[in-house]
Amino acid sequence: MYQYVSVTAADAATPSRVRDGTIKLHDESGFAGMRKAGRLSAEILDALVSFIQPGVTTAAIDELVCTMLLDGGAVPATLGYRGFTHSCCTSINHVICHGIPDDKPLKDGDIINVDVTSWLDGWHGDTSRMYVVGEAPIKARRLVEVTYECLMLGIEQAKPGNTIGDISNAIQKYAEKHRYSVVRDFCGHGLGQLFHDAPEVVHAGKAGTGPELRPGMFFTIEPMINIGKPQVKILGDGWTAVTKDRTLTAQFEHSIGITETGCEIFTLSPKGLHCPPWA
Ligand code: MF3
Ligand code: CO
Ligand code: CO
Repeated sequence: MYQYVSVTAADAATPSRVRDGTIKLHDESGFAGMRKAGRLSAEILDALVSFIQPGVTTAAIDELVCTMLLDGGAVPATLGYRGFTHSCCTSINHVICHGIPDDKPLKDGDIINVDVTSWLDGWHGDTSRMYVVGEAPIKARRLVEVTYECLMLGIEQAKPGNTIGDISNAIQKYAEKHRYSVVRDFCGHGLGQLFHDAPEVVHAGKAGTGPELRPGMFFTIEPMINIGKPQVKILGDGWTAVTKDRTLTAQFEHSIGITETGCEIFTLSPKGLHCPPWA
């Protein structure tokens, strides 16, 4: 039902750059590439912890992300991707994902997701975190915390023998236990030499369903969790996805690789700045 293909070397002749619906199984050279790409993106998210303050614009965040990616020898994978013209996505309050950086300053009490994807030596490091601007209400801070826990509970299920559905189910169960809803319109994805590849990693579903996890699979887990209903609306710019009921939403994302015994997180924060509060 699902087709798996082993890929061994990082050159254009391998099937690893073709989106053909197959699930790629990578070797140690792939892990090495993903480690570097993932680390650079994670370092950038670390740098944003002190940078993100009331009054800072998302355009300034975008500029910092772009500079740090280029300085690190990478290219922003989102720049020019299907017509997206920025180096990261900045999604504030009721914006679920794909928010476009602009000149509006951040306000005290905002929560914002910054999603960075490096493209380094042919490999993609895709990760996002939430940031709390100044002092946010407990309701917002709690959503951020639970969303982070959803991601990590999903990652706990990422090991050989389990399926994508085990990840989905762990996330959905925990979110709904807190009376939050899980966005269905966007999902995690395979990645590697491609930015978006098979399999689809849905964030709600039944345990034991979907593709079986095998060593060498690379994919993201990136749950979007809403305080209100799960429905999505896309704004007129064609990108910005907001909650239809305009309630708060949060998201965290890691890129991981399945190992013989579990998984490796390629985008772990080098400084341990996994989730606010940072202090
Ligand atoms: N980084 C996003 C993801 O997690 C994709 C952003 S595509 C863009 O898959 F074009 F909106 F930047
Ligand atoms: Co992603
Ligand atoms: Co992303």
